[in-house]
Amino acid sequence: MSTALLAWYDANARVLPWRVPPRSDERPDPYRIWLSEVMLQQTTVAAVKDYFATFTRLWPTVEALAAAKDEDVMARWAGLGYYARARNLLKCARAVAERGGFPDTVEGLRALPGIGPYTAAAVAAIAFGRPETVVDGNVERVMARLHAVQEPLPASKPVLVAHAAALTPEARAGDYAQAVMDLGATICTPKSPACGICPCRAPCKARAEGIAAELPRKTPK
Ligand code: ADE
Repeated sequence: MSTALLAWYDANARVLPWRVPPRSDERPDPYRIWLSEVMLQQTTVAAVKDYFATFTRLWPTVEALAAAKDEDVMARWAGLGYYARARNLLKCARAVAERGGFPDTVEGLRALPGIGPYTAAAVAAIAFGRPETVVDGNVERVMARLHAVQEPLPASKPVLVAHAAALTPEARAGDYAQAVMDLGATICTPKSPACGICPCRAPCKARAEGIAAELPRKTPK
């Protein structure tokens, strides 16, 4: 499964400003990975691109961001919403600058102010190649469909996380995480998934049962 998905990613990875192309010798910049992952929480890739360009032009390193004035960062964040994220961003940048760079493990990242389990796993996997499991809404949807999980969210969350963890490869965990997210964004979409061109159509239980578009089920709020 992860082999098919990684092969698909090698050929189809979206070109994103913070991303290093798969199979290139370039190393991702932990600062750019962290910044993009914080911006991408509750915000679409399309909306984030311009903000990411502005932030990295004004503050190309975590040290530069750490030295920025709070009000300048808040002003540039305007429009992205969830202002607590911007305040946490600055707190985290200052802690990272203070300690001389990003920690390269999920535990070290979790100990920073304003970094939750999602961001810690994403930075550990994508920037440092750690075999951590990254779970966002895309990953939940892909796992619910692959395994035809009928139990609705949020109760099914631990099951979906366990499925995602079981599929995470030791090597290329960062590419794998991004592959599942790209699959969820482009093929395994919430409505009308494109099962006909999906690299995971063979093992996908929801597709076999004809219920892909119905999953994941959700408990009404
Ligand atoms: N959404 C959030 N983080 C992402 C990433 N690294 N790649 C693709 N989509 C994402």
